[in-house]
Amino acid sequence: MRIAVDGPAGAGKSTISKAVAERLGYIYIDTGAMYRSVGLAALDAGLEPRSERDVSGILDDIEIDIKNGDDGQSFYLNGENVTERIREPKVSMAASSVAVIPAVRLKLVELQRRLAEKADVVMDGRDIGTYVLPDAELKIFLTADAAERARRRCAELIAKGETADPAVVEAEIKARDKNDSEREFAPLRKADDAVLVDTTDMSIEQVINTILELADKRR
Ligand code: CDP
Repeated sequence: MRIAVDGPAGAGKSTISKAVAERLGYIYIDTGAMYRSVGLAALDAGLEPRSERDVSGILDDIEIDIKNGDDGQSFYLNGENVTERIREPKVSMAASSVAVIPAVRLKLVELQRRLAEKADVVMDGRDIGTYVLPDAELKIFLTADAAERARRRCAELIAKGETADPAVVEAEIKARDKNDSEREFAPLRKADDAVLVDTTDMSIEQVINTILELADKRR
């Protein structure tokens, strides 16, 4: 069974997907973390993440490893544990910039499809139901009002001890959604056969249960 969860920034995809995977005993695959790792690699190399030529030039030297440990999943970029660094706000836009580049997507999609062959998975991202796993047994499109998504992202940042201005965070989220929806190759889009779940007024537990019920019917 493959569950694809797509949607815009801050809709709760990772929290929900992780919890659903845990309850079903499936593997959770965070594809956003892969784009974040490539975005971070570009920033670390002093490159402009939007430059197709520059980023394509370092692509063969980028190795991403995922390790499952007691405290969740860790991401390694060329041997360095970047689990924390890829969550930095400046990496979000860099991820969205490199995600426009077809060569980046092809490399990561290959890795994603390989991971989904080995186990039952819950995979979250932007193009999972439309492009990466078009035959997924269950597809969810998670969304929420932009203001609510910004509020959630701010709460996350504040919980980590960072400062966050809701207006700035909302502008960043909107800019990223625009970039992700308007790119040519595998843009953010609801698959025709995906179930739309608007989480604006739903608790995390309600969203998890909604998806578990849908999964139960498809198994
Ligand atoms: O958690 P959040 O919604 O902020 O973002 P994320 O899922 O970590 O993804 C970061 C960025 O990676 C997105 O803004 C997209 O540009 C890109 N991405 C993508 O293009 N395709 C995916 N399957 C997953 C992420």
